[in-house]
Amino acid sequence: MTITSTLGPGTAISAVGLTKAYDGRTVLDGIDLRVPEGTVFALLGPNGAGKTTAVEILSTLVPADAGAVRVAGHDVVREADRVRAAIGVTGQFSAVDDLLTAEENLLLMADLHHLARREGRRRAAELLRRFDLTGFAAKSASTFSGGMRRKLDLAMTLVGDPRVIFLDEPTTGLDPRSRRTMWELIEGLVQEQGVTVFLTTQYLEEADHLADRIALLDGGRIVAEGTAEELKRRIPGGHLRLRFARPADLAAATALFDYAGADAEALTLSIPGDNSIVTVKAVLDALDNAAVRAESLTVHTPDLDDVFLTLTAEGAAR
Ligand SMILES: Nc1ncnc2c1ncn2[C@@H]1O[C@H](COP(=O)(O)OP(=O)(O)OP(=O)(O)O)[C@@H](O)[C@H]1O
Ligand SMILES: [Mg+2]
Repeated sequence: MTITSTLGPGTAISAVGLTKAYDGRTVLDGIDLRVPEGTVFALLGPNGAGKTTAVEILSTLVPADAGAVRVAGHDVVREADRVRAAIGVTGQFSAVDDLLTAEENLLLMADLHHLARREGRRRAAELLRRFDLTGFAAKSASTFSGGMRRKLDLAMTLVGDPRVIFLDEPTTGLDPRSRRTMWELIEGLVQEQGVTVFLTTQYLEEADHLADRIALLDGGRIVAEGTAEELKRRIPGGHLRLRFARPADLAAATALFDYAGADAEALTLSIPGDNSIVTVKAVLDALDNAAVRAESLTVHTPDLDDVFLTLTAEGAAR
């Protein structure tokens, strides 16, 4: 039996009861995480929530005080070397050496991974091409823009061909176009090479766009976890809006639903709810049974910003 199979097939990262304190102050208060292979997991949280600390522990850089962590089938404490061989880490702060060119930075990583010289060169050239940096291979990294530096940083992380990649705020400070480029690169890694990505971000839109699952870290605990859609459904603000052609239809519909808010001028009715398919169907059935005709139905879901602000509000008040 392999070590991986004891985890259940396909688990790239698992943490149970992960605990860490600095100077007597609890940063991570027994968190549990599970990230299936080939998926993107986003850890969100306000400044100082412990995102970087979590990445550092999962990537063997810092020891936990308590808890069991396995990454790529290995224990991060007892088999740290094997974990390190399987992962790549792009830290919150760049690992790019300004005194070196883009190519030299990549070759340095190739050396660290003990790649033969020829293989290192081949890998560096391939990554420069993939990241659209070929024309800058011989340029000093000190001349790079923030976006180019971020790309080079990610390219350096990929030199060792990792199966699991940790990205700590990969797009902070990037303009919208550079951010999209990074997203495409990350998506490509997952879709084409099946790597697992664990990322932290301040950008809810980023988690929404990239992540299969999202966990919200606050006050040392995971306060919410799920797909973006699941998280959005958890908080108030979601509603169905029906629009009617005639005031009589609006009045008839208003009588059917508790808590519904009618707008007589716009001829609309807002029905608060979880926006699940079951709810939508129940609303349509109720209209149908009462022979009330609606012109249109739209589903309004709160965005992740609403989720973040609502679920971390307690932390902000402390
Ligand atoms: N090496 C350290 N020594 C002492 N305290 C630390 C250390 N590293 C982190 N901390 C503390 O742990 C807490 C969490 O820090 P961490 O960097 O993990 O937060 P974060 O969620 O990554 O924040 P940000 O969004 O600002 O990057 C903070 O209060 C920080 O001061
Ligand atoms: Mg951080």
